[in-house]
Amino acid sequence: MNRKDFFAKVGFGAAAALLPACIAGIASSCSSDSSSTSTPVPAPASVDFILDVSTGSLNANGGFLVTNGIVVARTNLGTFIAVSASCTHEGTNVNYNVSNNNFVCPNHNAKFSSTGVVTQGPASTNLKQYNTSLTGNTLRVYS
Ligand code: FES
Repeated sequence: MNRKDFFAKVGFGAAAALLPACIAGIASSCSSDSSSTSTPVPAPASVDFILDVSTGSLNANGGFLVTNGIVVARTNLGTFIAVSASCTHEGTNVNYNVSNNNFVCPNHNAKFSSTGVVTQGPASTNLKQYNTSLTGNTLRVYS
């Protein structure tokens, strides 16, 4: 069997194996719909964790990260803010925009203040704000 024959048989076999799954809607790779961003993830209700801000994206003003369903950002003033990460429109994680000190959804451009209040739709529900407390390089994020 040469290479061409091998790939022809393997390719046909894989297609034959996936076809029934696609028809039944089982194989996620067959779908172009991204259900992970179609429904907002509820804001975490009870939160209490710590982050080391001596390294990584929170080491510099303007940096942010998403962890435990929360976006944690370091403002231009060096203070820390935290809100639920999942956009209340369709669930895409929001980004921190240091220039405007707000959170922006990259999906449909909803905007939220630094405290999570909707300032531009299509989102109509606020993000949940969490408390932050810095001791040395240890940042506590809690509800
Ligand atoms: S998912 Fe955020 S604005 Fe639509």
